[in-house]
Amino acid sequence: MRSVFIWLLLCLLLGTSLFIMSPGAKALDKEDQSLYPPDTARLTRQQCMQCHPIIARLLRENGVAHRGVACRQCHQKFHVFVPGRTRYQDVLPKCTRCHDHPHGEELTDCSSCHTEAHTPLDIPATLSLSQGCRVCHPQFEKEIKTYTTQHTELYCTACHHTRHGYIPKCLECHQPHKGVFPVAAGNKESETPLDQCTRCHPPHKALNVTYPNNTDNNTCGLCHRKALEMLKQSHTKHSKLRCTKCHPGKHKTIKRCRQCHGQPHPVAMFKKFGSCGKCHGVAHSIIR
Ligand code: HEC
Ligand code: HEC
Ligand code: HEC
Ligand code: HEC
Ligand code: HEC
Ligand code: HEC
Ligand code: HEC
Ligand code: HEC
Ligand code: HEC
Ligand code: HEC
Ligand code: HEC
Ligand code: HEC
Repeated sequence: MRSVFIWLLLCLLLGTSLFIMSPGAKALDKEDQSLYPPDTARLTRQQCMQCHPIIARLLRENGVAHRGVACRQCHQKFHVFVPGRTRYQDVLPKCTRCHDHPHGEELTDCSSCHTEAHTPLDIPATLSLSQGCRVCHPQFEKEIKTYTTQHTELYCTACHHTRHGYIPKCLECHQPHKGVFPVAAGNKESETPLDQCTRCHPPHKALNVTYPNNTDNNTCGLCHRKALEMLKQSHTKHSKLRCTKCHPGKHKTIKRCRQCHGQPHPVAMFKKFGSCGKCHGVAHSIIR
């Protein structure tokens, strides 16, 4: 008991003498207190962002709904990765803690497509993504296989490259028609009606050419100059009709005379002369 007391006294003396000997020690002591206060505050989100500015920028600019989630809501643990001892992916948050399996049983490796959690809708066109097109867009897969064209041979990501949702321009791979067909008078070479490829070619069934019924006759005439000229020069009531009146909707459709005219002459007449064309010639140049 006594020896303890002596020890304490000795320490006190030593302490005091050191204190007296070191100039400015009093000031340092104060600083000690403020540098290392006993109760440290949790790191704030501001502080996370100061050290991880790139991640902060990703969230801010392209974080979509994750912009509303705080770092710590996802990163329940962090700064615990020790190379060789922990596995990196075990340290990082699991999507399924908050999300369940939104795309069903088949697409469970979230990060293979959502490669950057801080910009979750920025999804690069990877092999993993391309294996998922079928699951989420079955109708397009079916369409492109039903209407076989040379596009059927392409991967979806040959056209929809770079990232999910990218829509290609046909001209990335094709020459426009105007290189092959004559350009209509009055149109600049740079703006023919044939520029808007998808007006006529649905990309997933490209040879199933359809067109709006208000398509201009000159547009058809870019490829069918003979028909256009013939119709114009015949000066019949047919000349005033749109091509699409008789060739509606789907390319190569031909309406028959009777679909519009019904039965214009006595039945007996046809018994003798056969088709309309025998007396009236071709539709583009009706003989009256
Ligand atoms: C919605 C959940 C979520 C939020 C919010 C979030 N993170 Fe992450 N973070 C993740 C996931 C998941 C990973 C794993 C890598 C990946 O999938 O992109 C990750 C990875 C990281 C990494 C490792 C980066 C790398 O390239 O390996 C850091 C650092 C990080 N986050 C910091 C932050 C900071 C700082 C914030 C807040 C400003 C934040 N995170 C907000 C989910 C989140
Ligand atoms: C003083 C700087 C600093 C602050 C503040 C900071 N970090 Fe980090 N953080 C780092 C460094 C350095 C690394 C290691 C290198 C890297 O991965 O960027 C790291 C790595 C990480 C990692 C990946 C590795 C691991 O062990 O988890 C995550 C996740 C992370 N920080 C999240 C956060 C979050 C969340 C906050 C805020 C609560 C935060 N950091 C605050 C500097 C900081
Ligand atoms: C801490 C919880 C949490 C974690 C972990 C988390 N998320 Fe989210 N995520 C949310 C919330 C909250 C929303 C917004 C509400 C919603 O859509 O459910 C959201 C929305 C999303 C959205 C839709 C974005 C939008 O704006 O439409 C995607 C995509 C997404 N998360 C993917 C992921 C992926 C991938 C991971 C793993 C890398 C992940 N999330 C991890 C909480 C989380
Ligand atoms: C094959 C690729 C792929 C995989 C794997 C995948 N996703 Fe997605 N995810 C997508 C695409 C593509 C979207 C649609 C993006 C859009 O709407 O533009 C999406 C959308 C989402 C959305 C927002 C819309 C919604 O349906 O709620 C959430 C949340 C999401 N994914 C979470 C997850 C989670 C969690 C996992 C893992 C269990 C996961 N994803 C796996 C590709 C994938
Ligand atoms: C996890 C489900 C999922 C997967 C996998 C997926 N998509 Fe999508 N995709 C969606 C959803 C949901 C939308 C609708 C998003 C919206 O409304 O903006 C969409 C939209 C699109 C769009 C239209 C974008 C726009 O701006 O109109 C294209 C193109 C597309 N996806 C192509 C693909 C291709 C190609 C693949 C495969 C490489 C694929 N998607 C894989 C869910 C998915
Ligand atoms: C990624 C490149 C790519 C894009 C984008 C693309 N195509 Fe093609 N397309 C091809 C290839 C390759 C062929 C095979 C013949 C060839 O080499 O020209 C083809 C063939 C065609 C054919 C003839 C099909 C057949 O079976 O004979 C048509 C019509 C066509 N494309 C129209 C379009 C239209 C319209 C668009 C835009 C909606 C488009 N393509 C976008 C690559 C592409
Ligand atoms: C030859 C190029 C090409 C190929 C191959 C292709 N697409 Fe597309 N896809 C397009 C173009 C061009 C559009 C835009 C159509 C438009 O604007 O009307 C489109 C549109 C889409 C859309 C959005 C449709 C909408 O109505 O919003 C989806 C989804 C899509 N494609 C999925 C797929 C899938 C899945 C595959 C593979 C099975 C595929 N595409 C193959 C060129 C292609
Ligand atoms: C007014 C309608 C129309 C427009 C617009 C149009 N096309 Fe066509 N295209 C056709 C028709 C009709 C065919 C012939 C189809 C057939 O032989 O059955 C065709 C054939 C093709 C072919 C296959 C034959 C060939 O020439 O090799 C390709 C490729 C093609 N178009 C690409 C395009 C591209 C690219 C654009 C946009 C720059 C475009 N088309 C715009 C109507 C159109
Ligand atoms: C890009 C060129 C192109 C355009 C534009 C185009 N066609 Fe054609 N059209 C063709 C080709 C190629 C054929 C096939 C010729 C053949 O088989 O000898 C064809 C054939 C036809 C046929 C004949 C079908 C048959 O059974 O003989 C009709 C009718 C036709 N087109 C109408 C139209 C109409 C109407 C338009 C405008 C709305 C149009 N075309 C626009 C290229 C085109
Ligand atoms: C009054 C109806 C009618 C109008 C208008 C019409 N066609 Fe036709 N077209 C027909 C009929 C019917 C045929 C089948 C051959 C016949 O009986 O004369 C035909 C045949 C064709 C053919 C294939 C045979 C050929 O002559 O080359 C093409 C191409 C064609 N039309 C293009 C056009 C174009 C382009 C226009 C507009 C400039 C047009 N047609 C306007 C009724 C019409
Ligand atoms: C899309 C409908 C349509 C088709 C198909 C059609 N016609 Fe017509 N035809 C008309 C219309 C509309 C008129 C003008 C009627 C009017 O103004 O009284 C007309 C006028 C005529 C006339 C009178 C011409 C004139 O200048 O006086 C004849 C003859 C005629 N059609 C014959 C035919 C024959 C033959 C065919 C088949 C080769 C045919 N039409 C196909 C719609 C059509
Ligand atoms: C035997 C020859 C012959 C045949 C076959 C024939 N027509 Fe005619 N058609 C005529 C003659 C001649 C006229 C002129 C009569 C008139 O002006 O009174 C005429 C007039 C018309 C007219 C114009 C009537 C008007 O009011 O101006 C139409 C429309 C017409 N024919 C349609 C047809 C159609 C459609 C067919 C086939 C189903 C057809 N014709 C077959 C000889 C024929």
